[in-house]
Amino acid sequence: MKPIKLGVNIDHVATLRQARLTRYPEPAHAALVAEQAGADSITVHLREDRRHIQERDVKMIQDVLTIPVNLELAVTAKMLALAEKLRPQYCCFVPERRAELTTEGGLEVAGQLQKLRAACATLRANGSKVSLFIAADAVQIDAAVAAGADMIEIHTGHYADCTDATSRADELDKIARAVEYAAQTPLQINAGHGLHYHNVQPIAALERVAELNIGHAIIARSIFSGLHQAVKDMKTLMDESRR
Ligand code: PXP
Repeated sequence: MKPIKLGVNIDHVATLRQARLTRYPEPAHAALVAEQAGADSITVHLREDRRHIQERDVKMIQDVLTIPVNLELAVTAKMLALAEKLRPQYCCFVPERRAELTTEGGLEVAGQLQKLRAACATLRANGSKVSLFIAADAVQIDAAVAAGADMIEIHTGHYADCTDATSRADELDKIARAVEYAAQTPLQINAGHGLHYHNVQPIAALERVAELNIGHAIIARSIFSGLHQAVKDMKTLMDESRR
């Protein structure tokens, strides 16, 4: 089986810094440690309310890393202009609501196809590979193809939220069927949200998934084990599920 890649989301290093408006901890430092520990890309979500990652963080991270930076952003004219200026290797469009604790659902691609087609074309012409964060749903997958995206990221948040084995198995099945469906298209298939050390393996075992984006669980574990070890432990679990 092909190895699976790990994108480490470092937003919550910035959350800790912004809680006190200090100069530490430094997200660019975290990005470097994650890279050295085996991360395949670094994800940052530049939210419109700037609650964690700031524009300067994205620039610093781009400066110091050799692995790709994946910029998550809302589909707004302001964020598009910023992404055009920053030119990250990957951009991932996500829905964004100011009051939410974290990204809650997938993008409604089918319902705003014209807008997303234009946004994908703009960023692709600017040199970024474009991903759409979507639910495990064939309608949204077809729409992602029609929008001209390079990649999709399948939302694993509902799977992660399940509190009993039956509903977790149902959600996993839904994701597995969506992955198989998307595998018939030219899209690269990624997945993420809510994944942690105890639920990652069934998702990582889905052969056609190229990359997982994981943040909160890795940064949380790093308090106890250090970030290098936390990234390594996640990579090991993911690699094991591909053997
Ligand atoms: N993928 C997307 C599109 C996200 O918005 C987030 C959270 O910022 C993640 C993955 C990572 O989620 P978590 O922090 O729960 O691992």
